[in-house]
Amino acid sequence: MRSCLQDDDRNKFLDNASAFVALLDGKAVLKPGSEKKFTSDRFVKYDVGQFAAYLTLAAESKGISSCIVGWVNEDTLAHYFPTEGLPCAMAVALGFSNETSVPPKKRNRFEDIVLTEK
Ligand SMILES: Cc1cc2nc3c(=O)[nH]c(=O)nc-3n(C[C@H](O)[C@H](O)[C@H](O)COP(=O)(O)O)c2cc1C
Repeated sequence: MRSCLQDDDRNKFLDNASAFVALLDGKAVLKPGSEKKFTSDRFVKYDVGQFAAYLTLAAESKGISSCIVGWVNEDTLAHYFPTEGLPCAMAVALGFSNETSVPPKKRNRFEDIVLTEK
């Protein structure tokens, strides 16, 4: 699976990752009536994002580091796994980080990304 996530020499930090989870865009079954308003794929991306969030939080709570990875070679993935033709939304790599502190990062300011009532 690692080779699916390291095309073009990307994501070198995954060299020693221990496990990988591929999150596929599956088919959702909407509640009766909802299909009149939404197509069945309407919420799948949110379900996948939530799953990735909970997976990474659960891993962290057990002392396991993780990284969400969108750089996926889907052809290679489909070669090794039965993806049944479903697109891979993202993968989550799990392992034990070499870093002992959180690297500095440029963040958007809270006020710039949260809209408040006028
Ligand atoms: C859908 C998605 C795909 C991502 N793909 C990659 C990737 O391929 N390579 C990478 O280095 N970071 C990727 N990232 C970014 C990291 O997973 C991580 O979310 C980002 O560094 C922010 O983490 P932090 O808020 O803990 O610093 C991706 C993030 C998301 C949400």
